[in-house]
Amino acid sequence: MTDRFLKACRREPVDCTPVWFMRQAGRYMPAYRALRERYGLLEMIKTPELAAQVTLQPIEAFAVDAAIIFADILPPLEGMGLRLSFERGEGPVIHNPVRTPAEIAALQQPDPRESVPFTLEAIRLVKRALGGRVPLIGFSGAPFTLASYAIEGGASRDYRRTKELMYSQPRAWHVLMEKLAALVSAYLAAQIDAGADAVQIFDSWAGVLAPGDYATYVLPYVQRCIAAVKNRDPRTREPHAADGTPAPVPVIYFATGTSGMLSLLRHTGADVLGIDWRIQIDDAWAQIGPGIGVQGNLDPCALFAPWPEIERRAADILDRAAGRPGHIFNLGHGILTETPVEHVARLAEFVHKTTATR
Ligand code: CP3
Repeated sequence: MTDRFLKACRREPVDCTPVWFMRQAGRYMPAYRALRERYGLLEMIKTPELAAQVTLQPIEAFAVDAAIIFADILPPLEGMGLRLSFERGEGPVIHNPVRTPAEIAALQQPDPRESVPFTLEAIRLVKRALGGRVPLIGFSGAPFTLASYAIEGGASRDYRRTKELMYSQPRAWHVLMEKLAALVSAYLAAQIDAGADAVQIFDSWAGVLAPGDYATYVLPYVQRCIAAVKNRDPRTREPHAADGTPAPVPVIYFATGTSGMLSLLRHTGADVLGIDWRIQIDDAWAQIGPGIGVQGNLDPCALFAPWPEIERRAADILDRAAGRPGHIFNLGHGILTETPVEHVARLAEFVHKTTATR
């Protein structure tokens, strides 16, 4: 098993820098598009055999060091009573958004084993198919990012309704975040029980917040989700070391646009922080401190440059990371739809080759 990804999450020495790509399964891959012509996105996510097949596509195609389960951050909201669909060209839509204290009070608290059994089954299928080749990452949306979809009903330019609720109905906001934190904690625990070797929490839109608002209205709930993973009885895990010690499950917290609040993010309790490209990785690491790993931070658009330019930028990130324990190479956000496949393949190999000779 290539376990350099898990080793890096624990800041242990590695043979070379591990690499994977957020949204590594997706429309830029011909194999994905071929399946997607026949099935809808939610249909693929809700059919464990298809979700497992898509999860494995980038593992077969590239030298990536981790798989990430094919799912989405939004289906777990359906069990709370929210109606979700993906509209062509529009992205996700929640048809009955929550905007009042009464609507928030009416949200249900589903057991993920009942509301999203398909993703848990997909994890079991992938673990079997991987046969230990690479570890499998489970994931969830973070409470804030999920709240923003539940309130706005979809993507938003300014998150005005989300902030309006936060500022004018703080008690209802906290009730919503408590419910979402409980959902995220239970969902991550269920994925770990099903076999996920690490988990990532996506707080994609947290960067729209002022740091003070992040500290008051968001950070405590991220801490709660991560503590819930950390405080689980490790005896429920498969032993990972020769001496039979149960593996602690690493948690990665990823948020974009948060360069101005890394001093807050270091208090989330995450083993690894994912950073975007709006800050240089050595500056970010200086603010985060040595006890936490860092994942990132190539601009996804860089993959559209000619190869020598991609190589120059990747080498710069590796130079700045300077072989610190806990570096995981990734993009600063999800891979984009039209990304040239051969650049993805070449980049994974470049990261390994360059860091193996250090
Ligand atoms: O990384 C992986 O390969 C795992 C799969 C994955 C998907 N969504 C599948 C997907 C992951 C990790 C996600 C997370 C996700 N979903 C996030 C957080 C990550 C981020 O990029 O910030 C968010 C905000 C969502 C919500 C979401 N899902 C949006 C905004 C969209 C629309 C984007 C678009 O291109 O239309 C989706 C759809 C989606 N989820 C796709 C995939 C592969 C593209 C859909 C398709 O095939 O039509």
